[in-house]
Amino acid sequence: MPCQLPIVVTEPEYLKARDIFAAVSDMSITVAGRLEADVVAKVRSVGAWGVILGVETYTGDLYEALPSGGIIARFGVGHDGIDKSRATARGIYVTNTPGVLEDAVAEHAAALLLGVCKSLGSFAISMRDGRWAPSPTRELRGRPLTVVGCGAIGRRLGRIAAHGFGMQVTGVETAAGQTEELCNNWGFSAVVNTLEEGLRKADFVSIHIPSIPATRHLFGEKVFAMMPRGTVLINTARGAVVDEGALFDALSSGHLSGTALDVFESEPYVPAVSGKDLRCLPNVLMTPHVSSGTVEACGRLARAAIRNVRAARDGHFEALDLVNREMLSLPGDGQVQFMCPPV
Ligand code: GLV
Repeated sequence: MPCQLPIVVTEPEYLKARDIFAAVSDMSITVAGRLEADVVAKVRSVGAWGVILGVETYTGDLYEALPSGGIIARFGVGHDGIDKSRATARGIYVTNTPGVLEDAVAEHAAALLLGVCKSLGSFAISMRDGRWAPSPTRELRGRPLTVVGCGAIGRRLGRIAAHGFGMQVTGVETAAGQTEELCNNWGFSAVVNTLEEGLRKADFVSIHIPSIPATRHLFGEKVFAMMPRGTVLINTARGAVVDEGALFDALSSGHLSGTALDVFESEPYVPAVSGKDLRCLPNVLMTPHVSSGTVEACGRLARAAIRNVRAARDGHFEALDLVNREMLSLPGDGQVQFMCPPV
């Protein structure tokens, strides 16, 4: 019988799709804690050829622990936690799972938009505490929403907001040639290519850009000042793109009237600046980085990650959702270095 491919899967991801992982018969799956030290220890102890990982940041020994020709398969799309240069230098494939979670995240962003506009967080708390505390809420119809980043998730939110809630959606998108597509097929009213233009008239702003060095703390004091007083900020992208200290100040001063966040500078959430705990403000709605965590999306994410591992194992590199595409031009590509671990 051929030996099974040793793969390490982080526990939160394993638990999100336990039945699917448990049914995999051509891999020997070991579950590790989500943090790098445990992943590395498990990779070394089972001689793993690949890993399936969540959103944590992996900057340590993982790249030395995995063999050349192995794989880091993200269970998700964002790959800001993976050091692609080190992976490529070691000959390790890095993949993600595009195309399977976009509806889930866009729905969550829409839920946060509604939730903050209808004060659902504070009403839920007051009702649970036995307080009947009505206060006015707001409507969405006709109001301006700015979607920053009009990729697969941003455009889906645009469509929900325009066609479902009747909002006026403006996209901020730097990639050229998107206007016709976004306006004709996704409900956008306008597309602009600078934040300044996009934020000038926004009532709501939803962030859908990746976390890269250039976007770190992009939403800070200067950009908040471009937004009209009373704007609401939604973030389902990455915590690092928002300066949480500046966000606290903008909310406390009333410049921003509310925020709804699924992602944070540190996860689990701890205040980025001591004394500026966003949980203490009334107009803040938070969820624990769950936008892509629907039952449906998790099944698709697990299948996509497993498919990537198999494609790398079988040398079907054209079928990989490859993030470090420069791997394809390295000498020796196609030489899968998998050997049965010693028993
Ligand atoms: C979720 O945050 C992902 O990157 O897939």
